[in-house]
Amino acid sequence: MNSQEFKIISEFVLKSSGIVLSQAKEYLVDSRLKPIAETHGYDDVSALARGLNLAPQDVKLAVTDAMTTNETFFFRDKTPFKLFEDIILPQIAKARRTTGKIRIWCAAASTGQEPYSIAMLLLKHKRLSAGLSVEIVATDLSPSAINRAKEGRYTQFEVQRGLPVDLLVAHFTQDGTHWIISDNVKRMIKFSQLNLLENYTNIGVFDVIYCRNVLIYFNADTKRQVLTSVRKAIKPDGYLVLGAADTVIGSNGEFERAEARGLYQPIEAKQLRGAEVTALAG
Ligand SMILES: C[S@@+](CC[C@H](N)C(=O)[O-])C[C@H]1O[C@@H](n2cnc3c(N)ncnc32)[C@H](O)[C@@H]1O
Repeated sequence: MNSQEFKIISEFVLKSSGIVLSQAKEYLVDSRLKPIAETHGYDDVSALARGLNLAPQDVKLAVTDAMTTNETFFFRDKTPFKLFEDIILPQIAKARRTTGKIRIWCAAASTGQEPYSIAMLLLKHKRLSAGLSVEIVATDLSPSAINRAKEGRYTQFEVQRGLPVDLLVAHFTQDGTHWIISDNVKRMIKFSQLNLLENYTNIGVFDVIYCRNVLIYFNADTKRQVLTSVRKAIKPDGYLVLGAADTVIGSNGEFERAEARGLYQPIEAKQLRGAEVTALAG
């Protein structure tokens, strides 16, 4: 692939997903697009690149999908899930006693380990959300990742990465060399394909958003645009959880750090809490 062909692919991927492909990723592009070129009858990746802008929609979707990095595992980085148990769930459950509903969105859910980890924590702390209806929405740009998430079928290696053995025993059944998550957990989550660059007002507003380890693939403009859209999808007192390497630095200032590292709230949250304290004192 020459530099002009690489440029066609990187510009296309940037536009379709926000993912920035630096020249150093040329080897990655080549290895990931080779099977797509073969499947769709192109001579090689160079030919696919040259024909990409006029290619059928399924080829374009396959190219974008192939350039996503779906690395994830159960309870990844531990802290975001500890925060869920210790701060997010207790606070939100208390605040939503009156509305009766908690909505959680995993905005880059990949193959499902993140939303399933949250669902298992909700079951563990059932008492906290008793009487409330809880909905988890899990979305990802990658159709192949979200299809795997829907299946809830994991290899031995995948369940060994981060999943405590008591949760494996409680929520999975073995199927040969794979493990399948129980319907009980599965039915707590609605999975669908969604691009964070597009309009998603139709999915409603959430109390908690996990948007982890995806902003790192975007440039500053895309990150700003996504955080502005995410702000519109979160309640003023809701929580946003980002990945360890993500920050809101460079955004339009919609969010500020909450009680812990990696945890954010809309800037209005502090005012709301202040008003609550004043009302209680008065
Ligand atoms: C590294 S995974 C992170 C998965 C999970 N959140 C975690 O932290 O373990 C990044 C995910 O972001 C998704 N992604 C990339 N660009 C996206 C976009 N524009 N809209 C939605 N998802 C996107 C990829 O498909 C991939 O599954």
